[in-house]
Amino acid sequence: MPELVWEGKYGSDGRKLAPLRVALPFQTVETVNESAQERQRSLDLFGTSRTADSDWRNRLIWGDNKYVLAALLEQLSGKVRLIYIDPPFATGQDFSFRATIESSDFVREASVIEQKAYRDTWGRGIDSFLQMLYERFAIMYDLLTEDGTIYVHMGWEVAPYVRVVLDEIFGRSHYVNQVIWRRQTAHSDVGQGSKHMGPIHDVILVYGKGSDYQWNMQYQPYSEAYIGAFYNNVEPDTGRRYRLSDITGPGGAAKGNPQYEFLGVTRYWRFKRERMEEMYRQGRIVQTNPGTVPAQKRYLDEMPGVPLQDLWLDINTVQPQALERVGYDTQKPEALLDRIIRLSSNPDDIVGDFFAGSGTTVTVAEKLGRRWVACDLSRFAIHTTRKRLLGIAGLRPFVVQNLGKYERQVWQMAEFGETAAARAAAYRAFILELYNARPVSGYTWLHGLKLGRLVHVGTVDAPVTVGDVKQIAVEFRKAVGKGVDSPSTRSVDVLGWDFAFEVNEVARQDAAKAGIDMRFVRIPREVLDKRAVDQGDIHFFELAALAVGTQQTKRRVTVTLTNFIIPLDDVPEDVQRAVNKWPQWIDYWAVDWDNHGDTFHNEWQTYRSRRDPILELSTSHEYEEPGEYTIVVKVIDILGNDTTKSLSVTVPDRVR
Ligand SMILES: C[S@@+](CC[C@H](N)C(=O)[O-])C[C@H]1O[C@@H](n2cnc3c(N)ncnc32)[C@H](O)[C@@H]1O
Repeated sequence: MPELVWEGKYGSDGRKLAPLRVALPFQTVETVNESAQERQRSLDLFGTSRTADSDWRNRLIWGDNKYVLAALLEQLSGKVRLIYIDPPFATGQDFSFRATIESSDFVREASVIEQKAYRDTWGRGIDSFLQMLYERFAIMYDLLTEDGTIYVHMGWEVAPYVRVVLDEIFGRSHYVNQVIWRRQTAHSDVGQGSKHMGPIHDVILVYGKGSDYQWNMQYQPYSEAYIGAFYNNVEPDTGRRYRLSDITGPGGAAKGNPQYEFLGVTRYWRFKRERMEEMYRQGRIVQTNPGTVPAQKRYLDEMPGVPLQDLWLDINTVQPQALERVGYDTQKPEALLDRIIRLSSNPDDIVGDFFAGSGTTVTVAEKLGRRWVACDLSRFAIHTTRKRLLGIAGLRPFVVQNLGKYERQVWQMAEFGETAAARAAAYRAFILELYNARPVSGYTWLHGLKLGRLVHVGTVDAPVTVGDVKQIAVEFRKAVGKGVDSPSTRSVDVLGWDFAFEVNEVARQDAAKAGIDMRFVRIPREVLDKRAVDQGDIHFFELAALAVGTQQTKRRVTVTLTNFIIPLDDVPEDVQRAVNKWPQWIDYWAVDWDNHGDTFHNEWQTYRSRRDPILELSTSHEYEEPGEYTIVVKVIDILGNDTTKSLSVTVPDRVR
């Protein structure tokens, strides 16, 4: 078989570079729709490799599929019945997520803000794109069941190359189809002097893992022209359309057809006499005129339709006004996924999508009763998918996971050298550069200086805690006014990947008491994405401040959001202009009524949607048991960042 070779496929030793297969552990950051008992079980289970069917939880994973796929192998090797992926097509474009900011009054219209959701910089070179896919395909192959199928959605420009890569991994003989999906009816740039035909299709490459892959043939309705030409009889009393089909036995006696007389006509027939008589009694055999050859009535409403062909012209792209549209560029229509999922899986099968985007695959999988696992590296993708799922009636529980510190550790190892000390220093220098700060030396907790503010860079493997903040404050006090790098203002920026729940308030107040103006700034996940770094897409956002009030009547507790302040320094100006009341910043919020300091258990949530753009600001809960409870409120803002706040309540014994 001819082989496609690209730069980066073979190492300097002449061997093919194997995909990364490090089994990093998953962290569950949120459970959705779980009962209290179930949620503990699912937390316990994800720490193990047990995957008995009853233990299954659908999974939405935020992370790079390079690591996520490898991490899934331990639990899901040979278990996924269907994979659909729709990776970027190597066009070099950027893709947006559009959030609508509702007007705070009835005078102004809602504004739409556009934010970069992900970037497809593979357009700079097909080699790295093919290597990226090659590594992913190799692991997806292992995840599939022996009768599993993969659908790879591609642009027409790259599809021929990707097909050769798939041939190499799945075997040329396991190539099932190349679907041509017409995504628009016309596209013309003749006005711009183009010299090509309008490109209006995408390609979907279909491969089975083995030859005996799962297949449920789908049928399409007959065309009007076909019905008019063939089903041109209508039964007067029922209105049912039918055609008459020949019931004489082709091949005569040689083919074993019986010969007898029926309704005065002697022929070789397709059916035995008894069957013929029964069908006649049922009105399914008719003779249009005495002496003519009887025929069988075939009703249109009993025909399955035309077996599915590989040219899909009947599914439109998601239109701007479509109810299913969620504002995520490159969102695919649910009808497309509905067809694919029905073709190649059955209820309860596991369906995977590792470039999930707005979550079309898992939304349809959920609606069709399939189990699912999805992954994406964009925070907008994860948030959009979560909201989309929550809109499904009868949604089954699912978990939101990431590889958290483990993914960051692997990244740090790969990027910043061998020894731990050198790695930590190079990592800090990298983050400081992205933050436009310059490194300072001679301190343990203070690492940089930006516009007179000292900067602390949190480690990749632990959240910033109140204890860390105390250390930073102590060192800050020692540092002030001494040496070349001593700070000129009393301010510190604490950069971290994660922050303990209470840091933003408790630690900020502690620092203020000590006379330090401390800001907490999140290191964005995009830092791990080389393409985002190269494009200058790294935005550090200061943690927002959330104010929540509680009211309690016996065992009923009501929480109300009372304020939400986003520090504006890094917020794009168009967004700042669009917002003039604090609730407009909030896109979604959720409550865990009984948090145990572990994962956030989403027991209630509300969010803006196209159908219902108004956000409630209060919710109540009736506790069944007395005790001390920790409530955690989680807000996701229109920039896709989340802010949490924890509160304590005491629920009294029932008064008799
Ligand atoms: C074309 S979109 C998928 C659209 C999706 N089919 C839908 O209907 O919304 C491609 C997605 O792949 C994601 N992506 C790109 N590289 C990735 C990676 N290495 N790991 C995980 N997701 C990735 C992007 O963030 C983007 O959301």
